[in-house]
Amino acid sequence: MNNDVFLRALLREPTEHTPIWLMRQAGRYLPEYNATRKRAGSFLALCKAPELACEVTLQPLERWPLDAAILFSDILTVPDAMGLGLYFADGEGPKFERPVRDEAAVARLAVPDPNVELRYVMDGVSTIRRALNGRVPLIGFSGSPWTLACYMVEGGGSDDFRQVKSMLYKRPDLMHRMLAVTADAVRDYLNAQIDAGAQAVMIFDTWGGILPDGHYQTFSLGYIRRVLEGLRLEREERAPDGSVRRVRVPSIVFTKGGGLWLEDIAASGCDAVGLDWTVNLGQARARVGDRVALQGNLDPMILMADGPQIQAEAIKTLESWGAPQPGQGHVFNLGHGISQFTPPESVTALVEAVHSYSREQRRRGAAASGL
Ligand code: CP3
Repeated sequence: MNNDVFLRALLREPTEHTPIWLMRQAGRYLPEYNATRKRAGSFLALCKAPELACEVTLQPLERWPLDAAILFSDILTVPDAMGLGLYFADGEGPKFERPVRDEAAVARLAVPDPNVELRYVMDGVSTIRRALNGRVPLIGFSGSPWTLACYMVEGGGSDDFRQVKSMLYKRPDLMHRMLAVTADAVRDYLNAQIDAGAQAVMIFDTWGGILPDGHYQTFSLGYIRRVLEGLRLEREERAPDGSVRRVRVPSIVFTKGGGLWLEDIAASGCDAVGLDWTVNLGQARARVGDRVALQGNLDPMILMADGPQIQAEAIKTLESWGAPQPGQGHVFNLGHGISQFTPPESVTALVEAVHSYSREQRRRGAAASGL
């Protein structure tokens, strides 16, 4: 592979710079994305057309020397494949035609076959791998069982999560049953992505942070652990000379608002923990950095500022990692998805700053230790 800095950082191996990619790096802030989406007809049609999904996956990499590609898809494809009827109402975000609100609906839930109902995702993964041709690694992903359950019960986004929390507190048995089925669906879905060529996997637990302490561990992290335990995190890769070697597929768990639970998350069996912007990287490193790599964590809204301010904040984040071994085990990212209102020039400033400053940090570190 030409650039495996991202994979090495996830395994906490030394790297020549701090790798960077951005959550939602292919999206509406890019005019070329909007053009392809228009050609596809809709966001969902774009997700379901492997060639077009491949095209938008590569768009941010054409603009910037990002260190990883992420499959273009959505976390809600899994509940869609479970028969809930996903649609996007204009300007309103995702919705389900048939939300899961009662015992009968929970009983009807079944684990889909990812190579049948989600075939288009697997075709997307293999198409993207071919198109990348080893340029950078490809990240596969899924929502966490809890985050998927939030959308499945609420029927869409929510301000207060009243429906899903009502089910959790009134009928924890139903909630557990739903999470168990969803966790098995997520496990099979990620394993199929690994088989199709995903080189790392990330679990997005966007709504873990709405849970009280204790319930987070039971209803969100417990099912993430169950997913991780069922993943085949090794794959066979055939080198150009025909030889076959086994490589590790690192896993990343990102709980938005999960800063209080870093030790628990780091003990879940993942290789890396994603951090939102409320956490100090150096403190996170002190708490769990000897066990896992860390990914994050610039506030996405910093990209609304000007180039020099973005650069200063990027450097602050890189410096907060601390000595020794500056940046070893760090993957730079935003603390959440990039906003659709981001000027693309801001990303230029950010990627440039992270690459050049992190190279300089390593040079200084090597000089200080007399190497
Ligand atoms: O990171 C990437 O570039 C890969 C693509 C990706 C998308 N969604 C594309 C997308 C990924 C990894 C996701 C994950 C996702 N989807 C999450 C978890 C991460 C997070 O942001 O918290 C969640 C909660 C969803 C569900 C979802 N999908 C919502 C709430 C929305 C609407 C919000 C919005 O920005 O409009 C989507 C739609 C969506 N998913 C878009 C994109 C590019 C915008 C749709 C469009 O083009 O109209």
